[in-house]
Amino acid sequence: MYGTGRSCMRMGEPRCRMPDKSGEGMNRIVETTDNRKEGFSEILEKLVAQCNDVLLKYLPDPQNMPAGEEPASTVAEAMQYSVMAGGKRLRPLLIARISDLYGGRRALAEPFMAALEMIHTYSLVHDDLPAMDDDEYRRGRKTTHVVYGEGMAVLAGDALLNLAYETALKAFEAVKTPGESAAVVHALQILARNAGIFGMVGGQCADLEAENGDIYRRGGDSAVLLEYIHSHKTACMISSGFMIGAVLAGAPPEDIALLEQIAVQIGIAFQIRDDILDVTGDSEVLGKQVGSDEKDGKATYITIHGMDAARKDVLAHTVSALQKWDSLTVKDDFLRNLIEELVTRRS
Ligand code: IPE
Ligand code: IPE
Ligand code: MG
Ligand code: MG
Ligand code: MG
Repeated sequence: MYGTGRSCMRMGEPRCRMPDKSGEGMNRIVETTDNRKEGFSEILEKLVAQCNDVLLKYLPDPQNMPAGEEPASTVAEAMQYSVMAGGKRLRPLLIARISDLYGGRRALAEPFMAALEMIHTYSLVHDDLPAMDDDEYRRGRKTTHVVYGEGMAVLAGDALLNLAYETALKAFEAVKTPGESAAVVHALQILARNAGIFGMVGGQCADLEAENGDIYRRGGDSAVLLEYIHSHKTACMISSGFMIGAVLAGAPPEDIALLEQIAVQIGIAFQIRDDILDVTGDSEVLGKQVGSDEKDGKATYITIHGMDAARKDVLAHTVSALQKWDSLTVKDDFLRNLIEELVTRRS
């Protein structure tokens, strides 16, 4: 058994101080004692709890299905099992916090928070299937297909993807002005595009086809293809987290443009760190097996660029993103600290 049903981001490593902005500090990661700004953990826990509440509000309850829908209760149970297993809730908490930062209304943000985490979780359920990465543990539990069977896991993923749009559409019920209505349409476009063929699914397609050295045999530049994989399978969904709250809250266009660039860099750093953790991580803390990428012959940042470059580049992308973060018209120490924490995350 790996970990437990974790509900919160675990970032227990001694904190790394980010290099100074001159860039010369890139190799000088200074380990310090835990010097997080006061309130960080409290805010994080509160946001994760809010994400969980919102998800429970919109997920069907397998014990209490609408009248006549009881034959679908097994798929509802598999959906609950995968979504409520825990997870860091990074993407929905970004929507919530960024919406708050720009003075947005949670009534508009909440359906999108639930929707994005549903899509993310469906992508994990399908990613773990024997036909894809063939993994047995996720979020500290047996994977959905191991518990409910492959057919039911496929259906749970399908149902989560569809329910995501059913849920996001509910934001229209909270709309008060034509401007908010237009913002909800824009947010739906971001949500849909980033999850689809020109987003996460496209990245997963290239990820599968790059297995076992195919990335080299096809010719082309393996580093370029790896960047496509990371920017699509991972950064697109993280980008939805950064963008949707800002769009719903009517953030200034210059901030929205900056947030998009920040999100791509953080998303790529997030996946490089995921690749590192697949080699050096602790299964108990990660909640999933290590060594999965090697087992599947995946193209990862480690196989293409090596471990040293992976560690350096996570930091370089993050430093660059933080410089842009500091140019936004709003300031938020919590999100700044969170972005820093992702560099050394252990789960
Ligand atoms: C896992 O995402 C898939 C990747 C993009 C690497 P997370 O690391 O955010 O997984 P959870 O949601 O916390 O379980
Ligand atoms: C998957 O990347 C990203 C998704 C779109 C689900 P990985 O396959 O590396 O994610 P993990 O390591 O299984 O969480
Ligand atoms: Mg995968
Ligand atoms: Mg995987
Ligand atoms: Mg991985």
